[in-house]
Amino acid sequence: MTGSATQQYARGRVTGYRCATCGTAVGIETVHPFRCPAAPVGDVHHVLHPVVTGPDPEPLEGRNPFVMFGPSLAWWAFARANGMSEQRCLELTEEVAGDFRMTPIGPHLQLSDELDAEVWVKDETGNVGGSHKARHLVGILLHLRAAEELGLTDRDARPPLAIASCGNAAIAAATLAQRAGWPLEVYVPDTVSDTVARTLSDLGARLTRCGREPGAPAGDPAVFAFREAVSRGAIPFSVQGPENGLCLDGGRTIGWEMRRVLPVPTRVLVQVGGGALAACLGWGLGPEYRIDMVQTEGGAPLARAWERAGELPTGELGGRWSELMTPWADPHSLADGILDDETYDWQADIEVMRACGGQPIVVSEPNVEAAYAMATRLGATVSPTGTAGLAALLPTADGPAVQPWERVAILFSGVRR
Ligand SMILES: Cc1ncc(COP(=O)(O)O)c(C=O)c1O
Ligand SMILES: [Zn+2]
Repeated sequence: MTGSATQQYARGRVTGYRCATCGTAVGIETVHPFRCPAAPVGDVHHVLHPVVTGPDPEPLEGRNPFVMFGPSLAWWAFARANGMSEQRCLELTEEVAGDFRMTPIGPHLQLSDELDAEVWVKDETGNVGGSHKARHLVGILLHLRAAEELGLTDRDARPPLAIASCGNAAIAAATLAQRAGWPLEVYVPDTVSDTVARTLSDLGARLTRCGREPGAPAGDPAVFAFREAVSRGAIPFSVQGPENGLCLDGGRTIGWEMRRVLPVPTRVLVQVGGGALAACLGWGLGPEYRIDMVQTEGGAPLARAWERAGELPTGELGGRWSELMTPWADPHSLADGILDDETYDWQADIEVMRACGGQPIVVSEPNVEAAYAMATRLGATVSPTGTAGLAALLPTADGPAVQPWERVAILFSGVRR
């Protein structure tokens, strides 16, 4: 099991990590606690989750979530456990994550009017790198910088960072890596857009294009190439928990920010690709908020795994990964940022939905398109992936998707490029 619900959902402080698949515990003082140490080589079906104990530290002053909630983050607890002062943790946060700000959230009057519901929007399009993704990555970077500064790793022998992504995560990674002066390798599908490729190169990242070869095993070729780079010594600068569990740390800030202002009850609809965003959002918000997890009809491995899992206890899901969470054949949608072959953080996603009474929602492609058109018409500069949660609020063949004047919240999770 991944710990009791109350532990997992408190902001509290991180006291260590625990593998959601095999239960192995890892101490908070551990350097580079990226992967489960008990996982056999090549076995990517293990994932370290933060173990949290209360009470919640008082938020620190400011508008930067990595400052305000710093003492609740795993990198901070790691640094403190290895002798860094609270003051130095704060300074390092300013150096590495100084330009993060709480992103806007509030009722959206035009959407509320169009949908006859009270629609709240959390807008991540102005976040560092243009999406929520940098939240996941900056926690990893803070850990790396703290380890160097504490003399636990060698600053003069930095291995490169590596990430597999077709868009927002890579741009967030390249933005942070460039600023830190840390080399970054990005593994992208060969379908990557010219704009994204140029942005990445301009940010100093080294790009490798990975094509889907006929007859290759199911799964994402960019992810396979990324894993090879990691096996050669690169640091997994990943937004997928099984590749680097530390990404599940900073991602929680989005939920902590939302719960400061979002009334209870609210049903939150979140778009799911690899599943880390939804997991972190759920842990950060807490189970008082119902969270429905949205995928498109062209790629819905989480909804399929949810059906297959039935009532199997959460602690047993990881042991049956190969049978329950299988790669989606030929994922496709206009919402191309959530077309991950597998929902890598599916165990946490299922745990969150079960704890709050939520469910997966699979939206039709016409509704994906209509949601994007609606947001664009209302003046939002958001991508089709970023409006996939909105798609789940549009009427379907079965009727309306919201109760009259129900309070719902969605994330505009990435900017239109
Ligand atoms: C804009 C945007 N929203 C949502 C997601 C989904 O996040 P996750 O892959 O953690 O499920 C992504 C992932 O690429 C994204 O780019
Ligand atoms: Zn494990």
